[in-house]
Amino acid sequence: MGLFSKLAKNINVAIFISSRGSNMEVILKNIETSKLKGINVRLVISDNEDAKGLSIARKYNVRSEYIDPAPFKTKLEGLAEDKVIKMLQEENIELVCLAGFMRMVKQNFVKAYEGRIINIHPSILPNFKGIKAQKQAIEANAKESGCTVHFVDLGMDTGRIIAQRKVKIKKDDDEKSLSKKIIKQEYILYSKVLQDIANGKVKIPNI
Ligand code: GRF
Repeated sequence: MGLFSKLAKNINVAIFISSRGSNMEVILKNIETSKLKGINVRLVISDNEDAKGLSIARKYNVRSEYIDPAPFKTKLEGLAEDKVIKMLQEENIELVCLAGFMRMVKQNFVKAYEGRIINIHPSILPNFKGIKAQKQAIEANAKESGCTVHFVDLGMDTGRIIAQRKVKIKKDDDEKSLSKKIIKQEYILYSKVLQDIANGKVKIPNI
């Protein structure tokens, strides 16, 4: 493949969600309105059948699939992991975006997509890893927090950081008001990182 055709080609992306899917929705909207170019979302996967995001993805005519994660409660492994890898291969997925996917990913998947899985987390990593990052920030009396897009490895929110956006925490902020501030920044950050990937500013193996 020549350099030009490689540059001109859209990157095939899958987005993994567990519930609301608002980050995913913003990405799909930005693609639809050409604010985000060079990204083709071909697949949305949810580990929760009732995820609101699944019906949003269908509205955008994106293939959306529920994967039954049983018997595991907190991780993607075994049969479900095999199914996910098969679907990603069917759709020639080159990059996986976790966006509110509330499960640990495991070795087979991380190996199959080494360096090609990214995640958004609602804190300035390495601070406040894991669940309820906004609550952790409030309880720690932090003066600022924000969001991070990072590569995914086998640890909990430990992969190499790609980009971050900060917000100030005021004295009267609580978990809810902080979450509102942070999610607005998430919407900006995730599409920005995807645009940087599509433009080759952030390097992803085999892309
Ligand atoms: C976001 O805050 C994201 O950072 C975290 O889970 C939340 C998902 O929200 N990982 P949504 O499903 O994108 O609305």
